[in-house]
Amino acid sequence: MLNIALFGPPGAGKGTQSEFLTKKYNLFYISTGELLRKELAAGTKLGIQAKNIIAEGGLVSDEIIVQIIEKTIKSNSDANGFLFDGFPRTYIQAYILDGLMIKLNSNLDCLISIEVPEEESVRRLLQRGKTSGRTDDNETVIRNRLKEYKEKTLPVLEYYKERGLFYAVNGMQSIEKVTENIEKIINEILNKKLLNIVMFGHPGSGRGSLGKALAEKYDLEFVATGEMLDEEIKQNTEIGKQIKHLYENGQLVPDEIVIPLIEKKLQNSKNVRGFIFKGFPRTLVQSYILDGLLKKYDSYIAKIFDIKVDTLELIRRLDKRGKTDAAMPYDSSTEKIVKRLQEHEDKTIPVIEKYKETHDVTEIDGMPPFEEVLKNISEEIENSFKNLK
Ligand code: AP5
Ligand code: MG
Repeated sequence: MLNIALFGPPGAGKGTQSEFLTKKYNLFYISTGELLRKELAAGTKLGIQAKNIIAEGGLVSDEIIVQIIEKTIKSNSDANGFLFDGFPRTYIQAYILDGLMIKLNSNLDCLISIEVPEEESVRRLLQRGKTSGRTDDNETVIRNRLKEYKEKTLPVLEYYKERGLFYAVNGMQSIEKVTENIEKIINEILNKKLLNIVMFGHPGSGRGSLGKALAEKYDLEFVATGEMLDEEIKQNTEIGKQIKHLYENGQLVPDEIVIPLIEKKLQNSKNVRGFIFKGFPRTLVQSYILDGLLKKYDSYIAKIFDIKVDTLELIRRLDKRGKTDAAMPYDSSTEKIVKRLQEHEDKTIPVIEKYKETHDVTEIDGMPPFEEVLKNISEEIENSFKNLK
C-alpha cells in the first residue's frame, strides 16, 4: 500500500493536486471536506451535526470525522493505497490515522504539506467562490478557516516531523510545477519501500522454485529458511546436526534456531527491493515474529500467496524429488512425506487462516506447468503493485 496525506491551508491546492495523484498512483481518494459536504447534501444525521460548523469555517469534531473516515476506509480496504486530503487536521486525528493504518496492516508513507501564504489562500478561494458553489468560499468564512488552520492544524506538523514523515512543497508555483515536486517526493519514497511477499503452500507445491524465480524477476531477496538450515547441515555445524535429526523425524526446527538466521539475512541484505519469504512463517508464533522483524525496517508484508496443489500430486512430486540430487531428508520415504504434509496441515494452515483476516491472501492454482503458474503470480504482483516500479 501507498498512503499519503496532503496537508496545507484552505486554497493551497490539495484538491487540485489530488486529482492527478489518485490517477497516477492508483490511490483511493479521501477528502474529509468532500465527505462532509456529501453528508450535508444527503441531509444525514452527521451532515446536520456538521452543517453550522462548516458554515462558520470551524473544525468539525474529531468524533464525526472518525466516523465518516472509518466508514470509507472499511469499505475500501482492498485499495492500492489512500490519498488523504484535509485529514489529519488535529493532533487527535493524527493518532486516529495511525490507528486506522494499523487496522489495515499498513502505515502512512508521508505527509506532504503544500505551503502558500495567507493572502494567496484568500485570493484563490475568493476566485474559486465565484463558481464553486461552496458556501464557505466567502471572505469572512475563509478568514476563519485560516485562523482554525493556524491554531489547530499547523501544530499537527510536529507530529509528522518527529516521525520523519514530513515533506514540504512550495505551493506558490504553477499547478504543474507543484505536481512535479510532489511526484518527486513520492517516487523517492516508492524507491525506498520494501516489497515483502510471503509464499505459502504445502511442501512440493512449488513455492520454493516460484519464490526464487520471482526474487530474480523483481529484484527481491529470497529468504528460504529451509535452504538456510540445509546450509548448516551441509557444513555439518552443531546446529546442522540438530536440524538433521529433527528433519528426519519430520519435525519443525525450533524458533531459537531459525530467527537469528533470518535476522542475519535481513541485516545483510542491503539495497534490495524487498524480501520474499518461503517456509516462514510456519507457525502463529513465527507470524508475530515476522511482523516484529519487518517493523524494524518500518515495513510489513505486502502480499501473500497460497499455492494450491492436490495432495496426491504433492506426494508424487516429493517422491520424485526424493530420487534426485535435490532430495530433502524428509523426502526419503512416503511415511516421512505424509508426516511433513500433516505437520503443514496442523501448524501452517492456521497461520494462513489468520492472515486471511488481516491480509490480502491470493490463492494460486499450482497444478499447471511451472511457467504458467509463474506467469499467473507475476500478473498478480504487477496488479497489486501498479504504483511500485
Ligand atoms: P475542505 O473541503 O478540506 O476545505 P479546505 O481545507 O478549506 O481546503 P479547500 O478545499 O478550500 O482548498 P484546497 O487546498 O483543496 O484547494 P483547491 O485545490 O480547491 O474542508 C471544508 C470544511 O470541512 C472545513 O472548513 C471544516 O469545517 C470541515 N472539515 C474538513 N475536514 C475536516 C477534518 N479533518 N476535521 C475537521 N473538520 C474538517 O484550490 C483552490 C483554488 O486555487 C482552486 O480554484 C484552484 O484552481 C486554484 N489553485 C490550485 N493550485 C494552484 C496553483 N498552484 N496556482 C494557482 N492557483 C491554484
Ligand atoms: Mg479541497
